[in-house]
Amino acid sequence: MSDIVIGVIGFGTVGTGVAKILLNDRAMLEERAGCKIVLKRIADLDVSSDRGLALPEGMLIADADAVIGDAEINTVIEVIGGEGAAKKFIEAALKAGKNVITSNKEVIAKHGRAFTELAKAHGCTILYEAAVGGGIPVLHAIRNSLAANRIERVYGIVNGTTNFILSKMTATGADFSATLREAQDLGYAEADPKNDVEGYDATYKLAILSSLAFRCPVDYREIYREGITRITADDIAAAKYFGYTVKILAVGVNREDGLELRVHPVMVPDEHPLASVHDAFNAIFIRGSSLGDSMLYGRGAGELPTASAVVGDVMNLAFRGTQGFSHDTDFALAERKVLPISES
Ligand code: HSE
Repeated sequence: MSDIVIGVIGFGTVGTGVAKILLNDRAMLEERAGCKIVLKRIADLDVSSDRGLALPEGMLIADADAVIGDAEINTVIEVIGGEGAAKKFIEAALKAGKNVITSNKEVIAKHGRAFTELAKAHGCTILYEAAVGGGIPVLHAIRNSLAANRIERVYGIVNGTTNFILSKMTATGADFSATLREAQDLGYAEADPKNDVEGYDATYKLAILSSLAFRCPVDYREIYREGITRITADDIAAAKYFGYTVKILAVGVNREDGLELRVHPVMVPDEHPLASVHDAFNAIFIRGSSLGDSMLYGRGAGELPTASAVVGDVMNLAFRGTQGFSHDTDFALAERKVLPISES
């Protein structure tokens, strides 16, 4: 791969995390990638808010079209979220032959197939690991490490905001709206919290997960959906009394006669691992024909965890061009001292 020159569109929570990793860890990324990884521009309508990050003069601009029109930029990272503007920028970037990386599950669930075709037609690629599970590498696992399995089911907690709200309500007995505000302050919730609390975000993620896992196009509108807005502190207390924890799950089952796809609150037995997934963490169970059950667990939302997956996609672009997925150098790296284990 020749050098990767990046333009980021969107300087909110995820965009800030992406800029932090690209700027602060640049030397490490370039050493691993074997090429230069340059953050050239960030575009956002808000060019004045303090994001706690000092950017080089002229890097932050208001005009996203200028990012796409910049001939030097070969990779566009879209992190504005939502459908309208994001779709327009992704299409324009792909038509200009630029690779696109996005964390936007809505736009991928709705237009992923069209984008993939557009990318193919223009000799570029679109990557979207951060769209599902935040920082958890679940799409990579399904596509690569689990490629020798028929995936029979994929289910779990895929929305950090609602899991945060339900966990807090369970722990404190607090009501729904106060807890939602806390999730928004922490940067977990979507700009429009309806997407989280009414389950749309989870249906987008389940559509992407099940498309990849079951190897077929899935229309998110066909997924049964029920959010958490009607869950009361009393419901949670009653479930607790009987040994259950209320969670909202996304469930995909590959049945002989078709796919079972649903997102809704579930009373999970307290002894089930999903009952112990708290705060904005996500956990995804995958049952493979040869592997059996496995669970991927980690931070499903937030600035740096989501940015970790976005910049991971940048690295994957670099690896494709330089060392492919070869493992030739797995054990040829510099030696490190192994520390003794102390008894304390
Ligand atoms: N609002 C989303 C969530 C962000 O809470 O999971 C990460 O996709």
